[in-house]
Amino acid sequence: MRHSVRYFGLIPAAGMGARMGSAAGPKQYLMLGSKTMLEHSIQAMLGDARIDRLFVIVAQSDARWQQIRAGDERVEFLPVGGATRAESVRNGLMAVAGRYDDNDRVLVHDAARPCLSGSELARLIDEAGADDDGGLLAVPLADTLKRGEEGRAGITLDRTGLWCAQTPQLFRFASLRAALATGSLADITDESSAMERAGHTPRLVPGGSANLKVTTPGDLVLATAILAAQRRL
Ligand code: CTP
Ligand code: MG
Repeated sequence: MRHSVRYFGLIPAAGMGARMGSAAGPKQYLMLGSKTMLEHSIQAMLGDARIDRLFVIVAQSDARWQQIRAGDERVEFLPVGGATRAESVRNGLMAVAGRYDDNDRVLVHDAARPCLSGSELARLIDEAGADDDGGLLAVPLADTLKRGEEGRAGITLDRTGLWCAQTPQLFRFASLRAALATGSLADITDESSAMERAGHTPRLVPGGSANLKVTTPGDLVLATAILAAQRRL
């Protein structure tokens, strides 16, 4: 019987990048320097030796992933993407179900967050790896929050205690599988929300704003500048 907990990564990369609106295809294949956004995200997740395998969930219609050379035997592509991010993650977890124990830990990381640093990934595993409720990288909300009403600021909302959720998000394998297996996935935009709905209280592990999610063309400029500053281009 094996006693040590294993960590594996799962990158949902089956989106269309509608808000990016690129004619060149899904945003995960856009180039940031000499590598695609997806390759940067893969390299970031391979940066911690505790990650024993990294599954990349791509769309069934996607033919481009076959050109990616990760240069690491830990990487495995699974063409089981779903209609939403949550479905892609659920499909990926189901596809690897027999290969991991209930107590092993999965780290889900967006392909659209290529600037994740090694120290952030290590901190998440250090602080949440042994926690049965898991945890996620997050940053306290810095901006003042307004509710818009017909293009005008209607009211200012209290930001006390508010955090912006990032990825990776780390959970006990069986707990996340169960949380995504029951109930609708319609409102589930990250794994933590599924865990919260199932009664867990994931740990908020402070991350940094450099780990941005690349959503619009302006974010591409920012991500490129951050990767350059990290000497990763
Ligand atoms: N994703 C996925 N399967 C989907 C939708 C999204 O695996 N059906 C992935 C994306 O590839 C991305 C991550 O989930 O890595 C975060 O999603 P998002 O930033 O919203 O990417 P897209 O859905 O591709 O972009 P958009 O919402 O603008 O279409
Ligand atoms: Mg999306």
